[in-house]
Amino acid sequence: MANATDQVAAHYARSDIAETILQAMRAAGKDIERLTPDDLAEFDHFHGRRLEATEELARLLAPQAETHVLDVGCGIGGPARYLAYHYRCRVTGLDLTPEFIAAAEFLTARTGLTDRVSFRQGNATAMPFADASFDALWTQNAVMNIADRPRLYAEMARVLKPGGRLAMQDVAQGPAGPPLFPVPWARDPSISFLHTPQETRAMLEAAGFRVLVWLDNSAAAIAQAAAERAKAGGAPVASSPGLQLIAGEDFPERARNTARSLREGRTLLINGLLERV
Ligand SMILES: C[S@@+](CC[C@H](N)C(=O)[O-])C[C@H]1O[C@@H](n2cnc3c(N)ncnc32)[C@H](O)[C@@H]1O
Repeated sequence: MANATDQVAAHYARSDIAETILQAMRAAGKDIERLTPDDLAEFDHFHGRRLEATEELARLLAPQAETHVLDVGCGIGGPARYLAYHYRCRVTGLDLTPEFIAAAEFLTARTGLTDRVSFRQGNATAMPFADASFDALWTQNAVMNIADRPRLYAEMARVLKPGGRLAMQDVAQGPAGPPLFPVPWARDPSISFLHTPQETRAMLEAAGFRVLVWLDNSAAAIAQAAAERAKAGGAPVASSPGLQLIAGEDFPERARNTARSLREGRTLLINGLLERV
């Protein structure tokens, strides 16, 4: 049987991601030779509250042009491109899934950002970077797939410079039992490793982080899903056709389960800003 890491990469793997997005862009009348990160936003913010979450977390981190950010579990690179485009900072993205890294590199070239954004394939629990390599860390909806959370947070603390900040979004375990599967990050419980917000904070603090801001954005995520349902005329499908192209045909069911798990208190959407002490 494949180990959990192989199972995670297999869960996300999809061929022709970049070409699929370009076709959709063409169909929407965009000039695919002159794409901006904003053009791609419907497709490449693969996390709860999508672009809105990225915008809010970026305002919290507020990187400067000289800041070098590592995006842990960067997916196809939407948030990395967003940060480089809007804040002029340098971003390195690390992700386990080779197909996502290939798409991230392709789309970054198409948006003319290769001077500031680059990618590495690898495992966040054994990062291919020297100690204190980065000024800031960023992660959105990736750690739910990682079983060894203490090891992950120790790696994050290792590669971040002392005094550097970590901006994070995570799906946490809620009080009302496990999530309803399939969800976007796992089709069954074998690759889903959720912790409560309290456990998450304690593990981060044990790894050497100090919490500066800690937010529960579950209500905002529930409200956004309800608004999208209303916009779709009450259809029970969360309206994120862009992500469906990346995540697969069963994405509507997984998005529905995400919304229901949040409403029922099975999951929570948390955000934090922390400092490496
Ligand atoms: C739901 S996607 C989020 C992608 C991106 N952060 C975003 O918000 O658009 C989760 C990502 O975490 C990555 N991931 C999961 N486990 C990982 C690990 N151990 N090391 C590196 N990346 C991992 C997956 O490959 C996937 O790209």
